[in-house]
Amino acid sequence: MEHLDVLENRLKICGFDVAELAEKYGTPLYIYNLDRIVENYELLKSSFENEGINVKIHYAMKANSNPEILKELRKLESCLDCVSPNEVKLAIKCGFKSKDILFTGTSVSDEDLKILTEEEILINVDSLSQIKRLAKINPKRKEISIRINPQIGAGIHEHTITAGKYVKFGIPEENVIEAAKLANGFGFKIKGIHEHIGSGWLGNDVKNFLTTANKLIEIYKKISSFLGYELEFIDFGGGPGIPYRENDEEFPIKQYSAGISEIVRKEDINADVFIEPGRFIVGDAGILVCKINTVEDKYVPIIGVDAGFNCLIRPAFYGAYHRIILCENVESKNTKDYLIAGNLCESGDVFNENREILRKLPIAEEGQHIALLDAGAYGFTMASNYNLRTKPAEIIIKERNIKLVRRKENLEDMLTTLEEKL
Ligand SMILES: Cc1ncc(COP(=O)(O)O)c(C=O)c1O
Repeated sequence: MEHLDVLENRLKICGFDVAELAEKYGTPLYIYNLDRIVENYELLKSSFENEGINVKIHYAMKANSNPEILKELRKLESCLDCVSPNEVKLAIKCGFKSKDILFTGTSVSDEDLKILTEEEILINVDSLSQIKRLAKINPKRKEISIRINPQIGAGIHEHTITAGKYVKFGIPEENVIEAAKLANGFGFKIKGIHEHIGSGWLGNDVKNFLTTANKLIEIYKKISSFLGYELEFIDFGGGPGIPYRENDEEFPIKQYSAGISEIVRKEDINADVFIEPGRFIVGDAGILVCKINTVEDKYVPIIGVDAGFNCLIRPAFYGAYHRIILCENVESKNTKDYLIAGNLCESGDVFNENREILRKLPIAEEGQHIALLDAGAYGFTMASNYNLRTKPAEIIIKERNIKLVRRKENLEDMLTTLEEKL
C-alpha cells in the first residue's frame, strides 16, 4: 500500500491514524498525500528523461482539481489539460499561465470559445464545427491544435474508452486532412496534433496505445507535409492506469515511455512530446474515509456508511473496484462477507464493485471507519449533491503537515444559487 501503513492493526496515512483524522475533521473525508503526488509526477517525468525525452506533462485536472494539488504541480512546472472554462479559470487562479494550458473540450459552446479566446488558451478542436465557429468568434486568434480519433481505444471500462466508432470525441482520422484544409483556409496555424484513447489502461493495453501512437505520428507527417511546416507538438493524451485490485500489475511505465520515445526518435520528429496523465498522478494518493452507521445481517450482512455515490461514484458508475479497509481493525481471522452500502436512496449505492460480490472484511462495528483506497482520481471531482447530501471535506498532508483545504459543505452552501432566500 506504499504510503499507507498498518500499525497495531490500525490504518495510518503518512504516519497519521486514519480513524483519528476522521474523528477530528469529520466524515466523509478525502485525505490526499501531496508527497505521493509529487513522487508520481516525478516518476513519470524521469522515465521519459531516461529515454532522452523532455516530455511536457499536461496534468488532466479533471482527475482532481484541488487547488493545493494544482499549486504543487505548478511548482514542478507541470502544464495542464483543461476541459471547461471553469477549469481554466481555476488553473489561472492557481498561478498557471495561459500558455501552459491546453483546452480539449467536447460539444463546446460559442460562449465557451469566447471565454477561452479571451483567456488566450490554445484550443484543441474536436470537430470541424468548432473550427468554423472559432474562426467566426475570434478571427484574430490564429492558432489551434487538432484532436483525432484513431479508432482504437483502451480503458478500464467501456465508459472510459474515448476512441473508436461509437465515440463522440475527436475528428475521425480519415477526416483530418479535411480539418487541416479547413483550418488552413481560415488562416489558423496548426500547432499540434492530439489523441486521448481512453483512461485507466494497464498491461497489454499499452500495446494498443502504442499502435495509435504510431498512427498519430503518421498523421503528424501527413499534416506537416500538407501544410508545408512541422507542427510544434504531438500530444499522446492521458490514460496510464493504476493497480486498483490487490493482484493488478503495476503500470508498465518503462514500456510506455520507451515506446513513445522510440516512435518519436525513429521518425526523427522534432516536435515537443506532450502527455496528459490524470489518474496516474493523483489516483493512489487519495483515500475516502467514511464512518459506519449501521452493521446488520439482512438477507446478506450489510455495513451502512455515511457516504454514497455522491462522494465517490466510480463503483456505481463503472463497477469500479476500490480496496476497502476497516481502519480500526485492518486484519483479523474473524471476518464476514459484507455489502458495503452508502446513505443514498438508490439500490446501486454501494461501494462493492457489484452488489452480488460481497467484500470480506474483519467483523465491523458501528462507529468504526472504512477507507476506500485509490480514491484520489475522479473522486471529489465527480461528487454531487444527490439527496441533498453534502460533498465531503478534503485535507492534504505534505511533509507530515495537515491542511484542511475544503470544509464539508452545508445546506446553506447548496442554497446559494437560489434567486430567493428561504
Ligand atoms: C482529453 C483527456 N486527456 C487526459 C485525460 C486523463 O486521463 P487519465 O486520468 O486516465 O490519465 C482525459 C480523461 O478523461 C481526457 O479526456
